[in-house]
Amino acid sequence: MTTEILEAVSNARRRFLSAVLALFSLISVIGVVYPVGLFLWPHRKKVGGVAVRSIKISILEVPIGEAKFVRFLNKAAVIIHPNEQEVLALSAICTHLGCVVKWNGGKKELDCPCHGGRFDIRGNVLSGPPPAPLASYKARVEDEYIVIEEA
Ligand code: FES
Repeated sequence: MTTEILEAVSNARRRFLSAVLALFSLISVIGVVYPVGLFLWPHRKKVGGVAVRSIKISILEVPIGEAKFVRFLNKAAVIIHPNEQEVLALSAICTHLGCVVKWNGGKKELDCPCHGGRFDIRGNVLSGPPPAPLASYKARVEDEYIVIEEA
């Protein structure tokens, strides 16, 4: 009788230890696979931990003739409101070496502070070393909002 009880306790202990070992093995595998997965398939477009594929801001935030810098697709972007009928959205990352361009309200253009690159309101290179225009996004006015989406 005592031998049977000892054997039952031993079997229960063995099953418990096997379960604990399996749990630790699973945690170890997840600990390796998860970071590798993040490296291979990184999250895109995070702003404050939330993925952003489109943004909607009040049209009052970008008066006619002005520009507003925003964070879009996890990068600096600029929304330009050149006239009543039109809104434009561009990447604010200079295509030369990646500096963030600045709005030049006097000339109505975007200037790069790093090496003097200049872009028009559509992102075309006016002068300087940038090899390509600024990337553009879809932008439209919807009711009283400006909506920006990936092109
Ligand atoms: S990084 Fe903009 S001109 Fe060089």
